[in-house]
This record gives sequence, C-alpha cells and structure tokens, in this order.
Amino acid sequence: MRGVLAGSKADVIAALDVGTSKVCCAIAQPDGAGGANLLGIAETASRGIRAGNVVDMSAAEMAVRSAVDGAERMAGVTLDRVVVSLSGGTPQSTPVAVEVPVTGRTVTDADLRRAASSHSIGDRLTPEHEAGREIVQTIATGYAIDGCRGIRDPRGMHGTELGMTMHVVTAASGPLRNLRQCVERCHLDVEAVVVAPYAAGLGTLVDDEAELGATVIDMGGGTTSISVFSEGEAVFADVIPLGGQHVTNDIARGLATSRANAERMKTLYGDATTGARDTREILEVPQVGEEHDGAAQRIPRSLLTGIIQPRLEETFELVRERLESHGVDRVAGRRAVITGGASQMPGTRDLAAMVLGKQVRVGGPVDVAGLASTTNGPGYAVSAGMLSYALAADTAGLPRGDLRAPGGVLGRLGTWLREHL
Ligand SMILES: Nc1ncnc2c1ncn2[C@@H]1O[C@H](COP(=O)(O)OP(=O)(O)OP(=O)(O)O)[C@@H](O)[C@H]1O
Ligand SMILES: [Mg+2]
Repeated sequence: MRGVLAGSKADVIAALDVGTSKVCCAIAQPDGAGGANLLGIAETASRGIRAGNVVDMSAAEMAVRSAVDGAERMAGVTLDRVVVSLSGGTPQSTPVAVEVPVTGRTVTDADLRRAASSHSIGDRLTPEHEAGREIVQTIATGYAIDGCRGIRDPRGMHGTELGMTMHVVTAASGPLRNLRQCVERCHLDVEAVVVAPYAAGLGTLVDDEAELGATVIDMGGGTTSISVFSEGEAVFADVIPLGGQHVTNDIARGLATSRANAERMKTLYGDATTGARDTREILEVPQVGEEHDGAAQRIPRSLLTGIIQPRLEETFELVRERLESHGVDRVAGRRAVITGGASQMPGTRDLAAMVLGKQVRVGGPVDVAGLASTTNGPGYAVSAGMLSYALAADTAGLPRGDLRAPGGVLGRLGTWLREHL
C-alpha cells in the first residue's frame, strides 16, 4: 500500500483484520533489510459482522473507519490501500497441478506467472468450485521441470515444460464482494485479500514448524479457522463457524445471565478443563434482567467449566474431522499452534492436545519482541501475518495480490518487526 506519510513520502504496508469480534488495523514501514517497523496499530469492537461475514454494511463500515483512523493517527500516515483478511466466505482448498511450456531456454518469471494465471487454474477447477465462488489465493507448493519434481525455485533452470503444484483457495463471491465494498466505502483500495487462517499461520509459525508440518487453529469470536503448513507453505485452509461468542452464549443461556456478564465471567473465571485449579470456588452470577436488584445466583466454578468444556471439545473434534476428511492430517505433523483471542482461555492448550492427539502451543505474533504487551497477544496473529505477507511480496518485487513467490514466503521474512511501539 503506497500510503502517504505526512510531510514525507514513503511506502508503508497496512493490514486490516476484519474479524467477528474486533477490527484491527496495523501499519508498518519496511526497513529495507527484510524487516519492518510498526508505526501504528488500533482496534475497534466489530459491528455488523457475523461468522466473519459482513451482514450490516453501514455498521461494519463504521467499525473499519474507526480502526483505520486510530492506526493512521498513531502512525501519522494517510492510507490509500490495505491488505484485508477474510474470516468468513466458507473458503475451500484445492490442490491444483498445471503444466506450461517453457518459452525461452530457461524458466523465467513470465513462465511462473503464466502457470499461476487464473486462466490456467480455472481449467483445473471442478464446476462446483466455480459456481458463485472466486479464487482468493494461489500458493505455489512445488515445481517440476520435464517431470523432475521437488524443485523449489525453477527460475534460471533449463527445460521445455514447467510443472507447478498449487494450493488454490476459493471463497463465496457474495461475502468477498461485501468485504471489498465495505473497505472501499472507507476510501481504501483492497490490495489483496488473504484468508484469515493462512495469515494466522504466517503470523505465528516459526520456519521449522512450517517446514516439518504444523496445523494452525485461529480461535476467533465467530469462527475457528484452520490452516495446514508443510514444506514451508500452506497446503490447506478451512473455517468452522464456531467461536468464542458461542461459548459466551452457552454461558449466558446456561446461567440465565446477560451476555455481557457471561463474557466477563468467561474471561475472568473460565477454564477449558478442570485441571488442577480449584473448581469448588463459588462465583456470584447476576441474573438477567435483575442486575439492578442485586439478585445473584451462587454457583461452583466447576459449573462454568462444565459449560465451556463441551463446546470447545466439539470445536476441536470438528477440526480433527476436517483434517481427516481432507486427508491432510498426516502432512500436518504432530504440531499444532492455537492462536486468536479465544485461545487465551486457561486449559485450552491441554484440551486441544487431548482431542487432536498433537503437541500444542499457544502462539502470538512471531518476531514482535518489544511490541506493547497489549498488542502482541494471540488476537493479533492475523494482522501480523498480513504484514508479513505484504512485506514478502515487496521483497520479492511482486504486486501484493499476486504473491506466488517460489519457495514460499516464510523463509525470507526474517525479523519483520525490529523496532516497535
Ligand atoms: N482471556 C480470554 N479468555 C477466553 N476468551 C477470550 C479471552 N480474551 C478474548 N477472548 C475471546 O476471544 C474472542 C475474540 O477473538 P478474536 O479477537 O481473535 O476474534 P475475531 O478475529 O474478531 O473473530 P473471527 O476471527 O472469528 O472473525 C471473543 O469471543 C472473546 O470472548
Ligand atoms: Mg480473527
């Protein structure tokens, strides 16, 4: 995004995470050495977004404006373009293989672009992929020259036919157009749309995890999104329309309390497993509609855990099912990283490990040492991932909507934020 710095002109990169619970805008300036300095970050409570989809255009527009304004003011920059995340839109992942003739004597960038063009991919997608769906992302996962596989960067190599395997992510056109329109109503161009689970992976995985195989689970307010990385690149992305808001609703219903109070109880006393914590502790629950009369029910903390645990178990079981039914569980390896606001609940890591049968860690944005502690938590992984994405495109000299750099993007990111707030 060529934002205009007040007073001087410089290129900045900007990420806009339009989530179900919050809209977050982050602005950074590349440092010319593969990293970037964070200039501004702001978030607003979301309005008009359900399960990651815009359902009320004006309300969502106001939330986006407010987050963008806040980040712009902090950075002293006026943005004209942003990279935007898509939490909803029921993304679907398809592996696609294409072959194109090599035009010159060696493989060039033009050959790669031709192989990755939507024209060559469109021929390989099944009709149900195309009906009402659009290609959001094309991620190169491997190359072959004249049938010889396992090539990471084919440029400059001799051959007559270039083969390219790709991970293509499509999303429903309606939600995608609504998201674009919402951002454009704020006088911003959408430079690229990145599916949230992919961005979460870029934002949290260390190189070895992405190489050896890892599953990323971004636990948001209205969605739980999944991506699988292997050999340095994303090979699968999916979204389950269940998130922290469902846990809050379960608590409100189960304890006959307001949603605001249920949210408060969840973040203060919530637990995903009984674990070693004292579940005999007694909690006071204000009753819905009777808050001002001081009417409160007294419940043991174990009752709260008893409401939270089944919902999270259900969510992780769905994650496991999706990985298995798409045949990506094996390549995903033994490692899982949970991130997103809802991953902060104590005990979530243990529960995920039990249901998924994997080693699990809670992941915040990588390489952001020095970021104010309020903005380096797991809720910011998607924003961090989008900045990495934009930075990698700049470094590779590609337009951001066309990030098909050979060998993946993770390897060349390095420390993307050196100095911070
Ligand atoms: N300490 C905490 N313990 C448990 N849950 C928490 C905690 N802090 C935040 N949450 C939950 O995290 C959720 C919001 O997470 P996040 O900010 O990642 O969502 P989002 O990106 O806006 O939504 P989505 O990705 O689903 O569109 C809310 O449901 C909130 O209740
Ligand atoms: Mg999110």
